[in-house]
Amino acid sequence: MQVYEGKAKKVIPLDDGKAIMEFKDDATAFNGEKKAQFRGKGWLNAQISAFLFKVLEENGIKTHFIGIAGDNRLIVERLKMYPVEVVVRNVVAGSLKKRLPLEEGTELPEPIIELYYKDDSLGDPMINHHHAKVLGISEEEIKEMESIALKVNEILRKYFAERGITLVDFKLEFGRNERGEIVLGDEISPDTCRFWDAETGKSLDKDVFRFDKGDLINAYEELYERLTGQAPTRR
Ligand code: TMP
Repeated sequence: MQVYEGKAKKVIPLDDGKAIMEFKDDATAFNGEKKAQFRGKGWLNAQISAFLFKVLEENGIKTHFIGIAGDNRLIVERLKMYPVEVVVRNVVAGSLKKRLPLEEGTELPEPIIELYYKDDSLGDPMINHHHAKVLGISEEEIKEMESIALKVNEILRKYFAERGITLVDFKLEFGRNERGEIVLGDEISPDTCRFWDAETGKSLDKDVFRFDKGDLINAYEELYERLTGQAPTRR
């Protein structure tokens, strides 16, 4: 079976309906234009993703997460992925500033959901339900992904708020399992979310790398510690 290698992860299929998801130390931004490596990032993202998938499972969300397979690896259920990124936003930041006349940091009256088509050669363009239909994804499937995404937002927003962190926005990816269920896949990490310290607004996510705001590992370690209540044990 074919190994899939992305910019920050590798997915190695196993022959029992499972797969290994390996998190790399590589970081990219702006569709791969900016690149670097950070020792320990793979471990931190694997652990943070595992932790957040567990929180979601405990709150009734179906995810592909099965367990931690050591170091930078998770064992997950194999899914047939939809080529769509589902972004949820609570606060104005990032590319939303180019779409709405609102200042960075403005809290939105209700969450905004955006869909992006995963295609590096097109630069992951934003799409709507109609485009998705042409890509073979039905209205019903999109609605289900959006509904799960909003539930994930409610759960995680509250969880982070209790730890003094604002969940500004994040990206999810979904797939179908062998039973035909739509399941949350991929990762949930500081690579794929924006986290701001609720008091200071300090970034605890990949914006540190995107916009040269400081030391990425320090930021990810702080997030890990505030989330889990434990100091990171491995670099
Ligand atoms: P954006 O403001 O750049 O559109 O990003 C919105 C959220 O989605 C942010 O939390 C980062 C995440 N994201 C990804 O996970 N992968 C991507 O390729 C992009 C562009 C954003």
